[in-house]
Order: sequence, then C-alpha cells, then structure tokens
Amino acid sequence: MASLLPPRVAAAEVFGHGDEEWWGALLPAEARLMAGAGAKRRRDFAGVRVCARRALRVLGFGPVPVLPGPRGEPRWPAGVVGSMTHCAGYRAAVVARPETGLAGLGIDAEPHAPLSPDVLDMVASPAERAHVAMLADGWPRVHWGRVLFCVKEAVFKAWYPLAHTELGFLEAEVAFQVNGDGSSGGVTAEVRRPGPFTVVSGHWRVADGVIATAVVAEAAAAWKSAQPPAA
Ligand SMILES: CC(C)(COP(=O)(O)OP(=O)(O)OC[C@H]1O[C@@H](n2cnc3c(N)ncnc32)[C@H](O)[C@@H]1OP(=O)(O)O)[C@@H](O)C(=O)NCCC(=O)NCCS
Repeated sequence: MASLLPPRVAAAEVFGHGDEEWWGALLPAEARLMAGAGAKRRRDFAGVRVCARRALRVLGFGPVPVLPGPRGEPRWPAGVVGSMTHCAGYRAAVVARPETGLAGLGIDAEPHAPLSPDVLDMVASPAERAHVAMLADGWPRVHWGRVLFCVKEAVFKAWYPLAHTELGFLEAEVAFQVNGDGSSGGVTAEVRRPGPFTVVSGHWRVADGVIATAVVAEAAAAWKSAQPPAA
C-alpha cells in the first residue's frame, strides 16, 4: 500500500486471515463495539486496527482507539486524515498529517475477481465501460471492472469524512493509466458535484490475487468547488 501513496503518508498492512493476537490488540472501547459481532467481522475490525496503530505510531501517536462514526467512517485523532480497508487475506490503514498538504485519503482492497456485468452497469458510466473494455483488450488478465469498483470505493472513503454526504457511483468519473506489464498504474477520478474536492489522483496494483487502490485529495484542490466566488 505504501508504494501507492506519497512518502508523507504512513501506511501499514497485514496479510493473512487473522488470529486471536489481533483480537487481543483491541482497546477497550473498540472491544465493547465488537461484543456480539461474528468472527469474520471481529478479525477484520481488529486486524485493520493493528494496522491503524502501526501507521499512527509513525506519526508519533501512542495507542488510541479508532472508532467508527455514524456512516462507518473512521474517527481519527485530531490532526490526522486516513483510511482503512480489509478484504479476504489483507488489511491496511494509511494516515497523514493535513499540514503535509493532504485534505483526504481513500484506500480500498478487493479480491482480484470478475465483477458481474450487472454490477458494472450500476457503477460505471458509458464512458467508463468503454474505457475498461479498451483496457481489457490490451491487458486481458486484469479484471478491470473490479479494479474500477475498487477505485470508486476508495474515492468514497476519501469523500465521505470530508463531505458527510454520500457520493453516488456515477458521480465520479475514473480514468486509468497502465504501467508496462499491466499489473499497476495511476488513476484519477473527477467528482461531478460540488463538495470537498473535484479531483483525486492515486495508484492501483494487482498482486497476489488482491487489487489495492489508493487515492489522495490534495488540500490545494479541496473545497474550491464549494467556495463562493471571491467578491
Ligand atoms: C463505505 C464503503 C465504501 C466501504 O466499502 P467496503 O468495501 O466495505 O470497505 P472495506 O471492507 O475495504 O473497508 C471497510 C472500512 O472502510 C472504512 N469506512 C466505512 N465507512 C466509511 C465511510 N463512510 N467513509 C470512509 N471510510 C469508511 C472503515 O474504516 C471500514 O473499516 P471498519 O468498519 O473496520 O472500521 C461501502 O460500504 C459503501 O457504502 N459503498 C457505496 C458507496 C460508494 O462506494 N460509492 C462510490 C462513489 S464513487
């Protein structure tokens, strides 16, 4: 995950399906939230918080709970922006100080598997469907629909904590750049409604059966669309 983000972002990740060691790493307020949760949810929740605390330590924080807000967004300590993701066999968290120029961060990981055509129709615009069809001609081993979906989830995770409103799948238009072997590259997403940012950029990678994506909203580009014009 670190390789998908600028060096001013601290990242931590764990591979594997989790064990009781992660569960023991929860702080009391987090453990209370997980009382009664199923085993998978407990492993995901605990594993990603192990990552969060490792990444926060790089920024100088001691162990602090990372509790979810009303829409599931992570509530980071004051002076931190960040994002978390978990999927089968993988968990990651990234954090940064806003004074480094970052308004928001979003990451997502998904199994590298096909996305059903029905879901692609729901999440992709006609231009995006044409874009992924063209990419599939060039790099047929990549499940481009799923990579697109993964990017949009990352965009949502950058958007929501700043906007506190939902972002629809068709409100962000994604474009990929592809590196030589087709397993990684860059990505941009333009957001087509007023809000905390109009564009994010980032990177994606497919490795070991997992798609990982990360996007950043630069502070300089943030909130411009929501500001009234200067008098
Ligand atoms: C919120 C959402 C993006 C999470 O996707 P997901 O694939 O379940 O995410 P992951 O399993 O990789 O990561 C889960 C983590 O995302 C983070 N997350 C959850 N809700 C969030 C929100 N509203 N804002 C930011 N981050 C959020 C949390 O850290 C969560 O981990 P936790 O529950 O252990 O704290 C998804 O459930 C959703 O609502 N999607 C629909 C909207 C959308 O994607 N629109 C695209 C617009 S372009």
